[in-house]
Amino acid sequence: MDRYAVIGNPIAHSKSPLIHSMFAEQTGEQLSYEALLAPLEDFAGTLRSFLVEGRGVNVTVPFKEQAWELVDQHTPAAQLAGAVNTIQRLDDGRLLGDNTDGKGLVRDIQHNAGFSLADKRVLLVGAGGAARGVIQPLLQAGPAQLCVVNRTVEKAEHLARLFKDQGPISAAGFDWLEEPVDLIINATSASLDGKLPPISPQLILPGHTWCYDMMYASEATVFNRWAAQQGAVRCLDGLGMLVEQAAEAFLLWRGVRPDTAPVLAALR
Ligand code: ATR
Repeated sequence: MDRYAVIGNPIAHSKSPLIHSMFAEQTGEQLSYEALLAPLEDFAGTLRSFLVEGRGVNVTVPFKEQAWELVDQHTPAAQLAGAVNTIQRLDDGRLLGDNTDGKGLVRDIQHNAGFSLADKRVLLVGAGGAARGVIQPLLQAGPAQLCVVNRTVEKAEHLARLFKDQGPISAAGFDWLEEPVDLIINATSASLDGKLPPISPQLILPGHTWCYDMMYASEATVFNRWAAQQGAVRCLDGLGMLVEQAAEAFLLWRGVRPDTAPVLAALR
């Protein structure tokens, strides 16, 4: 049986083993998938010992940048993202690093929720690893403008420079923005602490603007509760993105893309 795993710290509450076991059952692929806790100071050791036998891993917080350093080869998506969430051990033993987060986000927004990104004004809140990982697939979907807004403006400006050849990207500080947008994506880690990034309510046009929190929880996130109060027309959380990035990883490893709808429904 081919072995796969997700490696992170913490990892106990990861839904990835459940998601991949549902994918395996649905597609008839023979594989096992486990959750591995890596010590904060030895991700590389955990990765290497698993991949002696294991065929691939998913990597989660806080190891995605380290994973990027450790692999031998990057897909174009991983190259631009500067982070790796999916590793495949190739037949010659070398490690291929991919990043499926952005593809998963775009698929969830466009396919599952039915929101076309083409020609839309999109605000990406946050300029850390999570934001960087989704910029290229967002730009590829053809928005009119993708504005990266961050508390530390320099980090947003850095990302805008890095991706300037990929599409219409700009950077801003929170107090620079006034015009409402079509979609706001929260890629900050603020939700983890139950905090809200300082977004002006003016950016939400009631009954029009969509909001997406890349985080998810059993209840609505602070950001989504705030967005709903401001009249956002739809407030989506990151569970769909989680399932879709997993499906992209499954496709890379097994050559078959599972149907995500029943898996997402079961998780909900
Ligand atoms: P991740 O890998 O989750 O992106 P990160 O690289 O540490 O984590 O980035 C965290 C992001 O959340 C940053 O954009 C951070 O803003 P700064 O760059 O100004 O630090 C943002 N963030 C975290 N807490 C926040 C808060 N309370 N308000 C606004 N932004 C916050």
